Amino acid sequence: MVAVGVFDSGVGGLSVLAEIRKLAPELPVVYLADQAWAPYGERSLAAVRSRSVAITEMLLGRGCDLIVVACNSASAAALHHLRNTFPDNRFVGMEPAVKPAASQTERGVIGVLATAATFQGELYASVVDRHANGTEIVEQACPGLADAIERLGPEHTETLSLLDRYMQPLTAAGIDTLVLGCTHYPFLMQAIERLAGPLIRVIDPAPAVARQTIRMLGDGWRPPAEPLFLTTGAPGTFGVQLESLLGVIAQPEQVRVEMSHGTEIVVITGDLTAQPVDAIVNAANNRLQHGGGVAGAIVRAGGRVIQEESNAWVQEHGALEPAGAAVTTAGSLPADYVIHVAGAIFTAGQDNEGLLRGAVAAALDATAGVGAESVAFPAISAGIYGYPIEEATAVLADEIVRWVGRHPGVLQEVRLVGYNAAAAAHMQNGLDGARAAGN
Ligand code: APR
Repeated sequence: MVAVGVFDSGVGGLSVLAEIRKLAPELPVVYLADQAWAPYGERSLAAVRSRSVAITEMLLGRGCDLIVVACNSASAAALHHLRNTFPDNRFVGMEPAVKPAASQTERGVIGVLATAATFQGELYASVVDRHANGTEIVEQACPGLADAIERLGPEHTETLSLLDRYMQPLTAAGIDTLVLGCTHYPFLMQAIERLAGPLIRVIDPAPAVARQTIRMLGDGWRPPAEPLFLTTGAPGTFGVQLESLLGVIAQPEQVRVEMSHGTEIVVITGDLTAQPVDAIVNAANNRLQHGGGVAGAIVRAGGRVIQEESNAWVQEHGALEPAGAAVTTAGSLPADYVIHVAGAIFTAGQDNEGLLRGAVAAALDATAGVGAESVAFPAISAGIYGYPIEEATAVLADEIVRWVGRHPGVLQEVRLVGYNAAAAAHMQNGLDGARAAGN
């Protein structure tokens, strides 16, 4: 039987489900709220992508044939990847409704409310590229808003005061059309319309997504008894939310969504500072005076804060130990953190390998310690510290494979980033060697 699987980080996708049910009240639906992992908007693209794959596997296993990614952040991070990974299944995703907004605006100024993750994703950039047509777009990221709807509900004063704060720059900018770029926001429709006033048209993409879902399904489905609601969070809480947001009385089932692959270790060719991961690693000297190639790239890419924070770190903790790590924030990089570890200054007669292994393990411990789920490594010590790159990458990959074996499932993804094809080939050799060694 054809059923539709709908998922979101939490209750936001219920706004899409409500529209689907208006068009086809008896459509067989399995709704999964990934409340144990909410909010997605604050996680790395890599983490949301792995999560989306695991959830899709579960929904397919429950007999769903068409999957609605009823979450803008997950669509931005994973829609393309899901279509490649499951070529036999059909997906409908959320893309910010820039196209209808650009065709409806009269003054040529539109506003978009979305999560930071949505604005950072390629999907948003390509929608703007294709459909903005010279329209001025005022982007407003809304940190904490989806989370407030999730935890406190759409009517709570804290939720409404956040909304008020995010609406002000948009109304001040003279927009006449407003796009809701997160499926949680339609639950604030009344308040949004009140703050926007009668001259701003508000566009909720959910009805269009519901129509597309029904169109794709055709008529090959039969009515079920009841929709099925699943959550990875607390079923009692989700039941209350279902009643208040959707007017549905149901007993949600609690499920565990296991990540399918454990930690993925991948080799990437490119710039470390551009990686959409939670943390990137930099090898440093023991006073955290940053001068290497990676440090320079971090500063150029907008991570200027690191030297100031590093100075403060040394003042507080003293010199960086060989197997220790210092964590700073990452400025305007896609990553949240820079993890600084003591690289091995390649020197005859010293235990270079031991020092490098210690630094790698320290970087992974620190990554997990700050709750980051994905991390990218350059070929640490293979720059101005002079460690021969084929040896450095072999040690790096081997230590990572061992650490991941000792800490199953703690990290989603570890990236080995080679600056160019030759460096990436060394990383790949190192990784192949480590895996062949069976660590
Ligand atoms: N992306 C990916 N790889 C890079 C990048 C980048 N943006 N920039 C440099 N690399 C590569 C280099 O080619 C080299 O193989 O990363 C490796 C490490 O280079 P360095 O940063 O020069 O560092 P390292 O040899 O580890 O020495 C540490 O850096 O911050 C200082 O105080 C620190 O002086 C110490 C040095």
